[in-house]
Amino acid sequence: MNNYKIPYNKPSTVGNELQYIEAAIASGKISGNGQFTKKCQAFFKEKYGFKKCLLTSSCTDALEMCAILLDIQAGDEVIVPAYTFVSSANAFLLRGAKIVFIDSQVEHPNMDVAALEQLITPKTKAIVVIHYAGMACDMDKIMAIADKHQLFVVEDAAHAIDAFYKDRALGSIGHLSAFSFHETKNVISGEGGMLVVNDEQFIRRAEIVWEKGTNRSAFFRGEINKYNWVDIGSSFLPSELTAAFLFAQLENIERIQAKRVQIWQYYFDHLKILETKGLCQIPHIPKGASINGHLFYLVCPNEQTRNALIDHLKAKNILAVFHYLALHQAPFFQNQYEGTALPNSEHLTHCLVRLPLFFELSKEEQNLVIEEVLLFFDQKFGV
Ligand SMILES: Cc1ncc(COP(=O)(O)O)c(C=O)c1O
Repeated sequence: MNNYKIPYNKPSTVGNELQYIEAAIASGKISGNGQFTKKCQAFFKEKYGFKKCLLTSSCTDALEMCAILLDIQAGDEVIVPAYTFVSSANAFLLRGAKIVFIDSQVEHPNMDVAALEQLITPKTKAIVVIHYAGMACDMDKIMAIADKHQLFVVEDAAHAIDAFYKDRALGSIGHLSAFSFHETKNVISGEGGMLVVNDEQFIRRAEIVWEKGTNRSAFFRGEINKYNWVDIGSSFLPSELTAAFLFAQLENIERIQAKRVQIWQYYFDHLKILETKGLCQIPHIPKGASINGHLFYLVCPNEQTRNALIDHLKAKNILAVFHYLALHQAPFFQNQYEGTALPNSEHLTHCLVRLPLFFELSKEEQNLVIEEVLLFFDQKFGV
């Protein structure tokens, strides 16, 4: 992926990553839940108003914890967008849930909230929302529907660090939320994630599930004199080496975010002409949503144009990439899918392309990407 002159993504160190890893080693503790884990968790709690934060080894882990905490059982239904990463569905499927897919909007990859209520049955237990590209779903409507039907809301906030909905941080609104610090995200630790618990009823059990089903966290706090196996759980916590790397990123989050948002805005300003001319769709910022510069995408009119654009950029040594393949059509799922066609997710599968966006992307490099995208449409359609 990094053999391109302009790759799609490039993970960067931005501060004291290496020093903090050395400090963790020097401290004599590199397993999980040490000083750097605590510093990261305290940072998120303080900055974004999350009630309880637990670092995990991935967003996938955090989603699996959500499914355990919600006590998902065989036969429960969970509503999940079709246009998302496989983990948003897999985590619940692993606990026996029936996945009910919901389509994206015509205008946006986020879920079509207008289609939500008709998918709810007496068996529905939870709704998983994905804030695509860090742009908020209509959380007021989603929470109101969940409230009315007494359902839980899980925010898959993998893309959504430092993003807001009407001044509330994404990840602070649903009952539970999951973040990713995978190397393609805004703040990174190689692999990495975080569970956020906003509904207090889940806090105690979340710590237990996180610590392999034991009450070790309470033991470390001196609340009990020995720890024991008390529930199901797994090894969800990351090592201190991962947390040390992440903490250095968090110390620089303002700088990372300023740069990423600037890159995003620059793409937007220079490529919106494509939408004005009816050649392709650019991101529409939903009402109440902010921009966190996670990813910048275009939606081409058809698959042939999208693939030709990717090829054109490749020939110029620039890597642009497609994104999710709608889950209801995946080889694993298509034979079990009983729902209706989900045309917007299918359209995005075939037509969406993401442009290079990473902390170290220079203005010259970005200008080159923009120039080549415009040239492609000019050659194809005469911009
Ligand atoms: C929406 C969404 N959820 C979950 C994940 C999984 O994240 P992780 O790789 O940290 O497990 C991804 C991965 O990019 C994602 O895009």
